[in-house]
Amino acid sequence: MNIAFFDTKDYDKTSFDLANQDHQYNIHYFADRLDEESAYLAKGHDAVCCFVNDRLSKETLKKLASYGVKLVAMRCAGFNNVDIAAADRLGITVVNVPRYSPEGVAEHTLALILSLNRKIHKAFHRTKDYNFSLKGLMGFNMRDKVVGVIGMGAIGRNVARLLKAFGCEVLAYDVFPDKSLESDLGIQFASLADIWAKSDIITLHCPLTAETRHIISADSIGQMKAGVMIINTSRGGLVDTAALIDGIRARKIGSVGLDVYEEETEYFFQDFTDEILDDEVLLELLALPNVLVTSHQAFFTREALEQISKTTLANISEYIREEPFTFRVTERKGA
Ligand code: NAI
Repeated sequence: MNIAFFDTKDYDKTSFDLANQDHQYNIHYFADRLDEESAYLAKGHDAVCCFVNDRLSKETLKKLASYGVKLVAMRCAGFNNVDIAAADRLGITVVNVPRYSPEGVAEHTLALILSLNRKIHKAFHRTKDYNFSLKGLMGFNMRDKVVGVIGMGAIGRNVARLLKAFGCEVLAYDVFPDKSLESDLGIQFASLADIWAKSDIITLHCPLTAETRHIISADSIGQMKAGVMIINTSRGGLVDTAALIDGIRARKIGSVGLDVYEEETEYFFQDFTDEILDDEVLLELLALPNVLVTSHQAFFTREALEQISKTTLANISEYIREEPFTFRVTERKGA
């Protein structure tokens, strides 16, 4: 099977070459993102392998079908960038990797919380500059702090487990609350109103849906404690970024950790060191001293990449064994 691999980074090639050591698949790696323009690169391939920023619109898929591509193997959980209905009509199968390393994402969430609290991002630059002053670096003990965890799926429950180890009180919200977690983890389910009112830290782990879009809004921020820390390692659209910046400017929000951003597609995963960024909102976020941004790296662990490459190739071999099947993406619970 010939596979055209789009939006390739060095680490993708390393992990997929390792998973394909027996050369069962003929993988051609392209740095280009897949879209209507670059689709011609898929000529002569049976499958394409894509990631979160490839654009598999109806037009792109039509081109792929005309080149004889039969399979889209997403090497990520999300498939919001694939026109699934069009793929179905064109007889193209779409597969994905429903879950990889929720522990890794949870650990990155804790890394953001602890860095913001103890100002590690500032201390790093200071000491590099031989500035050993502690001015402005004071944090707080995590013990007994109230943390609101929104979305108690694979990642949320790992975050809650880690927070409990720090002695935090965890208030959780989920549309499908698994009550057994209360005794298993020592947490409590609560209403969103309670979470807004009582939490010192609020962390988002629910999917982006019509219901959760801008769950962090001017209204919810208005109900929060002064000095609240907000963390988003889930999806950018959960946060109304303009309202978030207003909340920071009003000194209502104490600190913010973002691994995702509403308009990240244009920038994340790429190096703009020598460029001038046009996104004024992103520039403002980056300029604020109490905002820490990482570029969608929460998933980025050795273990996750290994799981992604193995599952993607397993999906492809399942397709070869069972062909033809059509829509085969695995929906997330509640997504
Ligand atoms: P999951 O499907 O295991 O859990 C999601 C939970 O959210 C479920 O318990 C579901 O019931 C709940 N939920 C659904 N609608 C809700 C609502 N309206 N309000 C509150 N809770 C709601 O998903 P998982 O694996 O825990 O992933 C969570 C999020 O993390 C996903 O949105 C995913 O996009 C994001 N993610 C981010 C990564 C990164 O690198 N930054 C990597 C992997 C996932």
